[in-house]
Amino acid sequence: MSASSQMHAQAQLAGISQLVPVQDSGGSFVGPADPAERGRWLCSQLEAGNILFFPHTPFAFPQDDREFLLGQKQTSSAFHKNVAYRAAEDRITGLDKADTAEAARLRTVLRSYSQSVTQFLSGFLTPYVGKWKLDFASFRPLEEKGRPARLHARNDLAHFDSFPTRPTNGDRILRFFTNINPSQSRVWVTSQTFEALGPTLAKSIGLPDPRSANLLARALRGLARSFHLPGANRPPYDEFMHRCHNFMKEDMSFQQDCPKQRWEFPPDANWMVFTDCVSHAVLEGQYALEQTFLISRSAMVEPQRSPIAVLERLAGHALSN
Ligand code: SIN
Ligand code: FE
Repeated sequence: MSASSQMHAQAQLAGISQLVPVQDSGGSFVGPADPAERGRWLCSQLEAGNILFFPHTPFAFPQDDREFLLGQKQTSSAFHKNVAYRAAEDRITGLDKADTAEAARLRTVLRSYSQSVTQFLSGFLTPYVGKWKLDFASFRPLEEKGRPARLHARNDLAHFDSFPTRPTNGDRILRFFTNINPSQSRVWVTSQTFEALGPTLAKSIGLPDPRSANLLARALRGLARSFHLPGANRPPYDEFMHRCHNFMKEDMSFQQDCPKQRWEFPPDANWMVFTDCVSHAVLEGQYALEQTFLISRSAMVEPQRSPIAVLERLAGHALSN
């Protein structure tokens, strides 16, 4: 290999995610023995853009609940989209028939999943405990391969997550997934991390200007908020991440040419990743559960690696509200 092609290969490897198995074959957790040290190690792996992988569900998940979820395919036509469980309100959305006995059971099963994941992570990711906001959990009963969706809603195109209706203001999006399919893997690809891609994206999209603090500008922002104009409440960071999410999905040459790693998450596997810094797409799979946490930016063990820190270094000014 010539020196220049070697350099090219190395440059291509910047920001490539690793799969970090955190359970050995007996189910014990790996990493430093001291719990506080292990917590910091796990968090630093996540913050570097790695995927923490559990070959088996690390908490009790009753077989009855699994069978109920898998059975939805045969028994109901109502489960045609992803169902969200909003823990703060203890309610489910995305279900057509929200007041049937089946819906009540689904809420109970998702509540219990949400609580199990939260309890498990409370003893596992110790540096983040008390510094997260429990976001939605979801049940994903649809086959992802060939699933029709609008361009910006397609999850088979590589992207960083950004929630248009739930700005994080620089806090982090951590997602915990469980593949409950008894026979089929969930297949992902990941491309480079935000640390590697962010500077190029910032050049293409343009970084937000510093927010003007003058009275007129503040009054106009207030007016936009009171008329509920789209994006009126969005901090500059979220505005950028939302545009970035759409820009990546629109860029078919990026989608084709970006370096890709393929991951197969087998039946009963669980995995956890900061989806705001790992570009990801789901290609195949049906029946997954997921719980999202918004982790305070201040809880990071390596805060300089956060997308907002990368962008603020480039911009030279704050991007949060
Ligand atoms: C996504 O966050 O893009 C989808 C991941 C999945 O459903 O496996
Ligand atoms: Fe995503």
